[in-house]
Amino acid sequence: MNIAVVGTGYVGLVTGACFSEIGVYVTCVDVDENKIQQLKEGIVPIYEPGLEDLVKKNHQAGRLQFSTDLTDCLEEVDVIFSAVGTPPDEDGSADLRYVLEVAQTIGKHINHYILVVTKSTVPVGTAQKVKAAIQKELDKRGVIVPFDVASNPEFLKEGTAIKDFMSPDRVVVGVESERAKELMDRLYKPFTLNHYRMIYTDIPSAEMIKYAANAMLATRISFMNDIANLCDLVGADVNSVRNGIGSDTRIGSKFLYPGCGYGGSCFPKDVKALIKTASQYGYSMQVLQAVEAVNDKQKTILFDKLKATLACHCGLDPQSHDLLGKTIALWGLAFKPDTDDMREAPSVVLIDLLLNAGCTVKVYDPVAMDECKRRFEDKVIYAQDMYDAALDVDALLLLTEWKEFRLPSWKVLKKTMNHPIVLDGRNIYDKKEMKENGFIYECI
Ligand SMILES: NC(=O)c1ccc[n+]([C@@H]2O[C@H](COP(=O)([O-])OP(=O)(O)OC[C@H]3O[C@@H](n4cnc5c(N)ncnc54)[C@H](O)[C@@H]3O)[C@@H](O)[C@H]2O)c1
Repeated sequence: MNIAVVGTGYVGLVTGACFSEIGVYVTCVDVDENKIQQLKEGIVPIYEPGLEDLVKKNHQAGRLQFSTDLTDCLEEVDVIFSAVGTPPDEDGSADLRYVLEVAQTIGKHINHYILVVTKSTVPVGTAQKVKAAIQKELDKRGVIVPFDVASNPEFLKEGTAIKDFMSPDRVVVGVESERAKELMDRLYKPFTLNHYRMIYTDIPSAEMIKYAANAMLATRISFMNDIANLCDLVGADVNSVRNGIGSDTRIGSKFLYPGCGYGGSCFPKDVKALIKTASQYGYSMQVLQAVEAVNDKQKTILFDKLKATLACHCGLDPQSHDLLGKTIALWGLAFKPDTDDMREAPSVVLIDLLLNAGCTVKVYDPVAMDECKRRFEDKVIYAQDMYDAALDVDALLLLTEWKEFRLPSWKVLKKTMNHPIVLDGRNIYDKKEMKENGFIYECI
């Protein structure tokens, strides 16, 4: 089978590489010439464990090609997956510019039946817009070419994307023809041989499933952050509370971890887009508005805790809480471990707050340093390693729970930091141990 995957980002490249791994001939297309050139040379421009090996292996085997022009492969392909970005528009709705551009290109050039599958996260009704855009171009050409559209939202998690794609919990597919269903069945069967986990539905429901899933996960996080903040006030331990409620099988233990806010390329934009979709239909998503408000506040919580802690222990003016001249270390920049993605990461909010307050900011992340340089250039100091970051700082803030941060040498840190202050944005350290090591420790 021959397919094209348009958009070679986190989703598109993983999709292309994984389909090529099971024997499908794949052309990955992107408008970013630099990216395509790198991929042709075997360089994977994003950090995703296992992806580079998969890309190199299948490229060498001739099953995975790269191009900047979709028309290069249109003659041969049976299915086109569209995995281009759908960033938030100024009003929070999903910007469908790239999705519709791809549809137009398809309409301008197809000459045989093709199934056009939207993999990007798009609002309900987008498949119909894609269909209309393709049809409009066919009408302009005055030709009749059969085609189908389908929705196949992606649920992979950055950091475990290959595993998630290769053994998915489920594959959701929205179709409106038997031909489209058969094609999707053929393509996905190799991934679902052990447990048949295909969920077929109508297209609007498939589009909605993706948003509802992300909105539910974001809701759990904001709910736990709200509970954690209340625990702080009433003197309860949120970790015990989490264990207590997570063991209830109706609730389950996943996605109940309080922290310094959710980020990434999906939850923030998808929550916003769902709120926007609802408002376009005259409905108000009150739970999700609260989820978003709690998350925005949560991204600043370490900054507030930092001011309070320094005021308490380092003679900071309790009125102004002036941080001017303080040096602060950040461990972790990516929005979560095992990715270099800093989109909407709490680190971005914190760096801005700290720089505006007149602090010197020293940062370290195992893989997101280049991404940070791209965003913050020389505004922050880039450390060689985690200990270098903490050298001579007034406080250390843990933002991403990378494994290498889990068990640091507190003895070394105690000697090298100006003040032994650690603010743990992911609750990975032990309060008692921190106290025994002589640290002033705050968590969520
Ligand atoms: N990143 C994730 O973890 C994840 C998970 C599930 C779903 N999604 C969704 O998948 C979609 C893609 O996300 P991503 O993180 O891979 O985005 P990304 O920004 O990493 O990649 C998008 C790619 O599309 C390319 N592109 C834009 N317009 C194009 C065009 N007309 N032709 C060809 N290429 C074009 C861009 O150059 C870019 O390389 C989004 O809708 C996102 O919400 C993302």
